[in-house]
Amino acid sequence: MPNSSLNHFILTSILSLTILNTSPLLNAHGTSTDDTHPLYTIPIIADLSLLKTADIPIMYKDEEANVGYAVINSTIEKKLSHMAHLLGRCGNYERLPEIPQNLITVQNLIHGIRAQSEKNYQISFLNPITLVEKPEITNALQQLRSDNILESTQFLSSFKSRYNKQAQPNQHIQPFMDRLAAAAQFAQFPITIETISHQSTKQLSIKVTLVGATRPDEYIILGGHLDSISGWGGSGKTAPGADDNASGSAALYETFRVLTQQTQPERSIEFYWYAGEESGLLGSSEIAEQAKQQQKDIIAVLQLDMTSYPGDGPLKITSMTDFTNLWLRDFLKAVNQTYLNVTIQEDQCGYGCSDHASWYRRGFPTLFPTESKFNSSFKAIHTEKDVVSPLLNFEHALIFSKIAITMAMELGNSTLRQPAF
Ligand code: BES
Ligand code: ZN
Repeated sequence: MPNSSLNHFILTSILSLTILNTSPLLNAHGTSTDDTHPLYTIPIIADLSLLKTADIPIMYKDEEANVGYAVINSTIEKKLSHMAHLLGRCGNYERLPEIPQNLITVQNLIHGIRAQSEKNYQISFLNPITLVEKPEITNALQQLRSDNILESTQFLSSFKSRYNKQAQPNQHIQPFMDRLAAAAQFAQFPITIETISHQSTKQLSIKVTLVGATRPDEYIILGGHLDSISGWGGSGKTAPGADDNASGSAALYETFRVLTQQTQPERSIEFYWYAGEESGLLGSSEIAEQAKQQQKDIIAVLQLDMTSYPGDGPLKITSMTDFTNLWLRDFLKAVNQTYLNVTIQEDQCGYGCSDHASWYRRGFPTLFPTESKFNSSFKAIHTEKDVVSPLLNFEHALIFSKIAITMAMELGNSTLRQPAF
């Protein structure tokens, strides 16, 4: 019997019976000793969208949990496993040890999975993301200025230190907020600028919100750490942190400046300049934890950390693949094809090296593009020599403002959302 007829047979069996294991094609437990035999039956619990896309008859489903139950054979399993691999993920379906005895068993299994899953995601991940150039985005991109990023990097790196454990950990906060307020005054829609205080550090984070016009409860988050460090345990007298991370903070400021002059986004855009990253992701951990408690509907989180040292050459950047999500890395590739035309390499930090990890660990989808591969990044970070010099390049940093503004304008005005994996 061809697979499709087998599927049809199984499907009609399940529709007419309460739950299958009475098919005459199967033995009592629906098993065979040869698992490559086409009639060998494999009960699985799988991602519902994966089952639908692979056209596998679904025998029981929970739309909200996005989980389905199906019985497949080895040929279909190969197809499924291939699709799961294409998605860069092998855990999209799970074999059950045996065909469940009844519907209640299936329901209990799915409810168990549902209890674990943090959110109900609408999924369209098998459709490759393609973008069509939007004139308003091209226009916004042209308004970004590398000179402004240079100037803001100089401004931030000229504070003696932005270390969170120094005597005055907030010296840079009000002056930077004054600049944010100055940029916001030209906006035609509501913008809030506030500080966030923390349990784990005396340093403040800064949060800026551009309230969404139609879906204010859906969020795109753009962030970077504003603090710096130098010397072992923060012992350096000065901590200019120009590349790490005045450069990312300045790229975000430039993004904000231009975004305030565009039309109001449909979704809310939140900017964060995090405190205490260098002491262990302090500010972002508390902020992401609160977002998790509040079950905030966060579509994407962008981290900008180290943007100005072109360690692998001009117009070559890196997209970190650890603590980030495949669909956003794919989205970045689409952004690049449509708007940027740079070379994007992939690399890993190998550990939770920046604030995106705080979000990723709590189930939010993240993206972390950075100046270069890990090993070719700026060597003077965390020293008194991380200062603005000809080694740093603000045309390079501009690429990251472009990424941020495209994320804000594309995702901020779309209904696209993807699962966290
Ligand atoms: N900007 C660095 C992380 C980084 C370094 C990214 C090199 C890409 C290339 C970040 O500010 C940092 O220093 N992170 C700490 C870890 C943190 C948990 C204290 C680090 O890497 O040691
Ligand atoms: Zn650092």
